[in-house]
Amino acid sequence: MTIDPGPPVHIRPEASGDEDAVRAVTTVAFAPMPFSDGSEPHVIDRLRADGELTLSLVAEDRHGRIIGHIAFSPVVAGGSTVGWYGLGPVSVDPAHQGTGVGRALIEAGLAEMARRGAAGCALIGDPRLYSRFGFVSGALSHEELPPSLVQHLLLREDAAVPVGELRFASAFDHADQS
Ligand SMILES: CC(C)(COP(=O)(O)OP(=O)(O)OC[C@H]1O[C@@H](n2cnc3c(N)ncnc32)[C@H](O)[C@@H]1OP(=O)(O)O)[C@@H](O)C(=O)NCCC(=O)NCCS
Repeated sequence: MTIDPGPPVHIRPEASGDEDAVRAVTTVAFAPMPFSDGSEPHVIDRLRADGELTLSLVAEDRHGRIIGHIAFSPVVAGGSTVGWYGLGPVSVDPAHQGTGVGRALIEAGLAEMARRGAAGCALIGDPRLYSRFGFVSGALSHEELPPSLVQHLLLREDAAVPVGELRFASAFDHADQS
């Protein structure tokens, strides 16, 4: 019998001193992505500076090296101005992708947001990835993007489905990388 030891990864909240490693893993993860403008590490820095990095988790390998990261920040989801959070950016070092690190980060992040009483999370991303975590599209929109990319997940039983435009924190607005 083979016992699956699970992903060799430890998820913990970001701590002071992790900033450079978070920047590095985000940079290297998004660099090959055709949709990326390279702004993701700067978005995280700005969220942190603005006090809007609601939840920041890192994934460490067995040696304590940071190999992944996920950020959550406040969003306006349709008519809902409180209780909704954007998931992302989420990054895994390409050398460790496909081994369950991303799943561990996403599941830990969603569990923590639910524990904190969030109504739900929303994001822009590939539905083939996020539908695995229960995200659905069709209710929210974002600028001219295909509606299928704009997804939400209810985290509380009493939360209403958010309908309308999804708006992110201002840290996401800047196209420049200052
Ligand atoms: C997306 C990312 C965070 C996923 O992390 P990962 O560690 O490679 O993912 P995992 O190995 O935990 O896989 C999680 C699940 O999603 C699936 N998956 C992973 N990447 C996927 C993708 N791009 N599209 C569709 N499904 C994907 C896996 O098959 C797996 O499903 P399963 O558990 O049901 O088999 C990682 O690939 C990454 O950093 N990519 C570059 C940055 C990026 O694109 N971020 C997301 C922007 S929306």
